[in-house]
Amino acid sequence: MEKSTNINNEQTNFFVLYYEPFGKFLTRDNLVRIQIISFLICSITFANTHAQNQVIIPVTLSGTEFELNLQYGTHQFYSGFDTETMGVNGDILGPTLILNRSDFIEITVNNYLADTTTIHWHGMHVSAANDGGPHTTIAPFSSWNPRFTVLDKAGTYWYHPHLHEKTNLHVSKGIAGFIIVRDSEEAALNLPRTYGVDDFPLVIQTKTFDANKEIVVPSNADTVLMVNATIDAALQVPAQVVRLRLLNGSSQRNFNIGLSGNQSFYQIGSDGGLLSAPNAINRLKLTPGERAEILVDFSSRQGETIYLMSYASAFSSGIYGAASPGIGPGLVLNGYNPNPMNGTDFNIMQFTVASPGSHPVTEIPLTLVDVSPISESSSHITRNLILTPASMGPNSLNGKFLINNVSFDMDVLNYTIPLNNTEIWSITNHSPIAHPFHIHDVQFFILDRNGLPPIAAEQGRKDVVLIHAMETVRFITKFSDFANDSVPYMYHCHMLTHEDDGMMGQFKVVSATSVDSEVEHDDGEAISIYPNPATTRVTISMRQKRIQLKSYKLYNALGQTVLEGNFSSSSEFSFDLKKIPSASYFLVLKSGKQQFIKKITKI
Ligand code: C2O
Ligand code: CU
Ligand code: CU
Repeated sequence: MEKSTNINNEQTNFFVLYYEPFGKFLTRDNLVRIQIISFLICSITFANTHAQNQVIIPVTLSGTEFELNLQYGTHQFYSGFDTETMGVNGDILGPTLILNRSDFIEITVNNYLADTTTIHWHGMHVSAANDGGPHTTIAPFSSWNPRFTVLDKAGTYWYHPHLHEKTNLHVSKGIAGFIIVRDSEEAALNLPRTYGVDDFPLVIQTKTFDANKEIVVPSNADTVLMVNATIDAALQVPAQVVRLRLLNGSSQRNFNIGLSGNQSFYQIGSDGGLLSAPNAINRLKLTPGERAEILVDFSSRQGETIYLMSYASAFSSGIYGAASPGIGPGLVLNGYNPNPMNGTDFNIMQFTVASPGSHPVTEIPLTLVDVSPISESSSHITRNLILTPASMGPNSLNGKFLINNVSFDMDVLNYTIPLNNTEIWSITNHSPIAHPFHIHDVQFFILDRNGLPPIAAEQGRKDVVLIHAMETVRFITKFSDFANDSVPYMYHCHMLTHEDDGMMGQFKVVSATSVDSEVEHDDGEAISIYPNPATTRVTISMRQKRIQLKSYKLYNALGQTVLEGNFSSSSEFSFDLKKIPSASYFLVLKSGKQQFIKKITKI
């Protein structure tokens, strides 16, 4: 492997695109096109008034055998400063793995770090033993050899470390790479797919640097934005339809993606593959861990300079990235402000539009692939998960955060899921900040947000979903193909600070014969609450005798308990709302192992 080339933060007029030999990965044809584009970039850089840096495009690796070396390095984010980094086969980030669906692949991950770590294939459907979660550790100077068949649909996935309590450190220091899966369905469409020519992977991250330009982890003062480890990134694009594979690889920050001048673009893919049809939009929210593939039509824009932006001023409070990261007054997120990115609109990167290439895609397809969501009626079970801060008060934005009142414990299994179960996960956020919820093993379909069907951007296959404060998101998924009695899969918040702090749980998928009988049943329909909205008093009644409710708790938007009590044995009871302010609340009803969550509103 060659050492990666440091980019120079000063304005450069030489072209740094690949840090690996070209010939191994590119056809002659592509190479010629790249040379033409690079010539054009050289001639245009002088015109920039703002110092921009040619964005790094990671080298690709393809085939069925891969070697990934986790290593230390240095990278010049800032001219003259060698920042200490971690990378894969180079100083920072890692090669893009190009995989073909149904190929059997073998990967060797060599850990040349002094730290134990893991590598997880985020979004991919692989067995728990190959998944690279926190249990599958790679000790310093040892190797790990996952091997599996690529079962995923064509799309954009990624890989990153997943050691419990160190994920943020290892990712922030630089370990992350793209995985592009190709398949025949995608190949049949007239889409841009020439890597580095009309198809670009772009990982958007914010980091914090100290005075010596070393990366600070963890931090809520992430003032430095970069794309593919390039600050003030610039990319020359041809005047044709271009595909951008966007990944929010930030530890915490949400982006509200748009183009300068409000030009619209077309989302064609979500986390787990292509949508059924291009979705014309001018804003796209991207939460940590999430991917989106978009097409931008630069055909009539030759000679122009266009910016990819985040319109974070449009974020309502309660999202990391908004002016106010929490909902509710008096909440403090340490070190969050001042930060010019919070609640303002800013550039992510610059595009300069050059002449079209030789075989340009010039049209946006009308349709893409068949996306067949799982029907709600096929669900075997609903699991309820509640996200809460561990402690209340003005500091409650800083975590830790709990899932179902517990913090992650490597030795505690949170769910046992029968192989081939179709399940609804209903996740309710009782905390004052939005959390990107991610689950391993599966892609899911969002059923609803607070009862409302998902917008087009969220109708495809997903593995991350942002759950806003006071919101309940339900998704449906099927746990197929892989059962394993010893290795669990994870679900967690993809704000890496929260994840490291224990906002994570684990489940095993087991073959039907080994499932214990302890499964949850949500008989939500068996409980009625009225009136709702209510003014003074609310009544809860059980339509089914077998549900014996034991206690209730009413939580406000800050996750604070405002009312609680126990039930008598009657099947109907009521409580007073007079003393609490008018607002929406979550009512959590408990009966032994079962738990029901209902939203109630006092007016
Ligand atoms: Cu992107 Cu469990 O991770
Ligand atoms: Cu994952
Ligand atoms: Cu979180």
